[in-house]
Amino acid sequence: VRMRTYRIAAIPGDGIGRETVPAARRVLDVLSAAHGFELLWTEHPWGCAFHAETGAMMPSDGIEQLGEADAILLGAVGTPEVPDHVSLWGLLIPIRREFDQFVSLRPVRSLPGIRGPLRDERPFDLVVVRENTEGEYGEVGGRLYRGRPHELAVQEAVFTRMGVERIARYAFGLARTRSGRVASATKSNGIVHTMPFWDEVVAEVAADFPDVELTSYHVDALAALLVLDPTRFDVIVASNLFGDILSDLTAALAGSIGVAPCGNIDPTGRGPSMFEPIHGSAPDIVGTGSADPIGQIWSGALMLEHLGEKEAADRLVRALDRVVAAGTVTPDLGGTLSTNEVCDAFIEELRRSG
Ligand code: NAI
Ligand code: MG
Repeated sequence: VRMRTYRIAAIPGDGIGRETVPAARRVLDVLSAAHGFELLWTEHPWGCAFHAETGAMMPSDGIEQLGEADAILLGAVGTPEVPDHVSLWGLLIPIRREFDQFVSLRPVRSLPGIRGPLRDERPFDLVVVRENTEGEYGEVGGRLYRGRPHELAVQEAVFTRMGVERIARYAFGLARTRSGRVASATKSNGIVHTMPFWDEVVAEVAADFPDVELTSYHVDALAALLVLDPTRFDVIVASNLFGDILSDLTAALAGSIGVAPCGNIDPTGRGPSMFEPIHGSAPDIVGTGSADPIGQIWSGALMLEHLGEKEAADRLVRALDRVVAAGTVTPDLGGTLSTNEVCDAFIEELRRSG
């Protein structure tokens, strides 16, 4: 019998990404061996150090190289020395766009025994479905009269029918497998062209899903409601900017942005999808060994699920709950362990449950 193999491109990137990616790889390799498949890793040393050497965040054929992979596992990108728009637009955003990874899937839930910042301790479990290729994060615009009193900057948001429709369709499909409820983030009162368009297209898609209940919220009110009562939400569909902000908020509600995973997914499977924790390179803690690897490991579970290894993915998420419940965690979750010790705890847990 030939073993199932998957070619995985690893991009540790910068900062704590170089700590969490090797850690997650260790856990994923133990898991894959136990489930009869193999991850064939190719590591790409791209990021800000590469930029310092070559003037670019990745080689000019970087996208082609990644195109060979079945999936990409990314750490984080960015250092204080390189402006964030340079690092982001030199690596992360080209990958998301070139491979048309139009879904940014960001599940968040309460973890056993972890006290979030909320007074209300009822557990919540939700997914932010963020549009990942258009919207407010665009290149249309410009700057004039730099440094002069009448300096100006213009940045256009671009929403297309195809773009809104496909993200909405994904969110409604996902809601069908969960609670059957979708909350849509809008701001049609203030942003008078793109957001009413978003609302219209989302409502049109909703008509194809009569079994799913759609509620629209202005994003400011939605942010407040999430803090007051996250349990009332399940699937939240949002534009690129709104989804970015809401998913950091929901991750913080769970207790730490170090735990939240993200899939940048092309559901058509034409190109590789990319999996990464939602946190950044955390320059304030890099090198201390205290980076929480859970967001990276959970992203690995999303990757396995995407590759069709659902059993292994579920096992990894169950291990995650047990590791957290046992208190074998890093300082961001109130523990005292290091990145590598948390990984050891995962591996032990996987061996125990195997
Ligand atoms: P950040 O997520 O790196 O850090 C925010 C805070 O959360 C820091 O106090 C950090 O120590 C803490 N934190 C983050 N991840 C953690 C983990 N795994 N364990 C424990 N604590 C953790 O966001 P920040 O400071 O805004 O950005 C730092 C750099 O990262 C910037 O260059 C930024 O552009 C980049 N960035 C990259 C992202 C990516 O690669 N997808 C996403 C967000 C930021
Ligand atoms: Mg973000």
